[in-house]
Amino acid sequence: MKGLVLSGGKGTRLRPITYTSAKQLVPVANKPVLFRVIEAIRDAGITDIGIVIGDTGDEIRSAVGNGRRWGVKISYIPQEAPLGLAHAVKISRDFLGDDRFVMFLGDNCIQGGISPLIEQFGRSDYNAQIVLKKVSDPRSFGVAELDDEGRVVRLVEKPREPKSDLALVGIYMFDHHIFEAVEAIRPSARGELEITDAIQWLVSNGYNVYPYVHEGWWIDTGKKDDMLEANRLVLEELEPSVQGYVDRDSQLIGKVIIEPGAEIINSTIRGPAIIGEHTRIVNAYVGPFTSIYHHCHIEECEIEHSIVLEYCTIRGLPHRLEDSLIGRNVEIGRSPLRPKAYRFMLGDNSSVGVL
Ligand code: G1P
Repeated sequence: MKGLVLSGGKGTRLRPITYTSAKQLVPVANKPVLFRVIEAIRDAGITDIGIVIGDTGDEIRSAVGNGRRWGVKISYIPQEAPLGLAHAVKISRDFLGDDRFVMFLGDNCIQGGISPLIEQFGRSDYNAQIVLKKVSDPRSFGVAELDDEGRVVRLVEKPREPKSDLALVGIYMFDHHIFEAVEAIRPSARGELEITDAIQWLVSNGYNVYPYVHEGWWIDTGKKDDMLEANRLVLEELEPSVQGYVDRDSQLIGKVIIEPGAEIINSTIRGPAIIGEHTRIVNAYVGPFTSIYHHCHIEECEIEHSIVLEYCTIRGLPHRLEDSLIGRNVEIGRSPLRPKAYRFMLGDNSSVGVL
């Protein structure tokens, strides 16, 4: 089997972070979501992986490389415009050949990996298998209806009135018949070739499409709050370890990971939390569900339930920072100048909450 990872898209719901960075490279518990996807595919025994890339292709290539570090072989498949998930399959035909494959959206995070589903699909003669998850509000996803025997009978992309609560998780398994489907369908109202429509075409044309209902958690990390939620869930599953320096005046409580080269000085870190390589935490409190990436400086402040990307400096805040996603190289601190005022230099589509 082969793996196909989709890592294009504009990431509009994660602006301004995505003006300068691919959404799939935002880290969850200090590891980009895309790396977690590659590892999940590798752990299921698949080593030949194609990544479909778009505008952010150069950044993805330089972050991922040839895959040797994971023991896999990565091929890149450029998509000239975000014309849909089914379009991504269409342009990957040469890479995929007639192999069965798993397609995994590069911004999806799933508990427990995909080994059980790959094993089931590998043993079956299904033409396609889709991963489903019960959700409370399915309107922002593809939605599947099953019959009494548990077969997929109908799929609708983002229905206004969903007929079931089973959302399509961004993980799909196909055999080569999917290429007939992607050639047959037409663009949707949003101008994209929808994979949901291609799977519906398989169902309507008598192919066997079966569901795999996932019981663990699943997060599509398209928005800030979803990123924070994925961060919370992944942090809860990590094993604590201290590879950096923690001075005698500091306290680590609960599941805390201190990465190599990090320094914790006169501070309290209450887990689950992770402090990245060469980050310094000085006279500060880092609370649960927080990931601070590498080369940051956090001093005289409190921060909780947040993700901070690399090379940030956060210093001297009079109130706690919470529920935040902070991009690379950001500086947050007290303004030393009079008159007393907020002084911002913010990118387009930033959002700031003041007290
Ligand atoms: C895509 C699919 C949708 C699926 C979702 C999962 O939506 O079209 O069917 O439920 O991924 O993440 P998009 O993220 O393109 O809106």
